[in-house]
Amino acid sequence: MDPKGKVAIVTGASSGIGLATAKLLSAKGAELVLVARSKDKLDKLAAELPNSVAVAADMTKILDVENMVNAAKDHFGQVDILVNCAGQGYDVPVADTDIDVFHHIFDLDVVGPVVAMKQVIPIMRKQGAGSIVNVSSGTALMYLPNNGIYGGLKRTLAHISLTANVELKKDKIAVSVVYPYITDTPFDDNTIKAPTVTWAGEGGGPPFPPDTAEYAAGKIVDAIESGEPEVFAHDWMKNPRRSET
Ligand SMILES: NC(=O)c1ccc[n+]([C@@H]2O[C@H](COP(=O)([O-])OP(=O)(O)OC[C@H]3O[C@@H](n4cnc5c(N)ncnc54)[C@H](OP(=O)(O)O)[C@@H]3O)[C@@H](O)[C@H]2O)c1
Repeated sequence: MDPKGKVAIVTGASSGIGLATAKLLSAKGAELVLVARSKDKLDKLAAELPNSVAVAADMTKILDVENMVNAAKDHFGQVDILVNCAGQGYDVPVADTDIDVFHHIFDLDVVGPVVAMKQVIPIMRKQGAGSIVNVSSGTALMYLPNNGIYGGLKRTLAHISLTANVELKKDKIAVSVVYPYITDTPFDDNTIKAPTVTWAGEGGGPPFPPDTAEYAAGKIVDAIESGEPEVFAHDWMKNPRRSET
């Protein structure tokens, strides 16, 4: 879908990849619904980007997600694009998983995006077209120590996306999943880390330098424009080394 003149909801628009995606979509002529919890940051961004509106929502709260889509529909009269980018990491060995944190990350990284999809799909069906992009993670494609919970939930999100892609073809709604590689954003600072975690990494660190948020945003916009079911930050991620052993 060409973003020009389209209404796009971008969650996680206050920081990192979501922020860069909102800016890139705006530069391509989209009208934007900017979503996150930090209303002050969103208001500043809305003042910068023409035809945009800030909507504060906690994506772990079903009512907030429903209100977000209603606010978009009320303001612009349509919703053409949904980018589910809000998310948070959880670094923990499986054996040490805190079940309350697990539930929180599940609510944010999986349930929130699904609730948002459920809200926009009827609108897109009526309009006869739509584009939904779910932001997963390269960790969903590998078995990295301490990433079982986060990577597993991002893999769940990818599976749901790929299934919805098949289900919604007949409605001309393209559903895509994007797998970013390590990206230079505040993500790691915001990741919840179990006290037992000490990052060793593969061979002492990640195999390649991090991408920029703008690079990852470019992949999200590629997904919107192409409607491809899966978009990888890098080709090698299509066939990654799946574990450290
Ligand atoms: N950076 C990486 O290395 C990397 C790699 C692979 C995948 N990803 C994925 O890319 C996406 C964006 O991450 P990022 O790197 O841009 O991280 P980030 O800079 O930490 O941004 C996270 C965004 O999510 C929002 N958010 C967090 N909790 C929320 C909640 N409960 N309700 C609503 N919004 C919430 C934050 O806004 P507020 O705090 O204002 O609510 C912020 O806008 C995430 O889904 C992440 O899993 C990141």
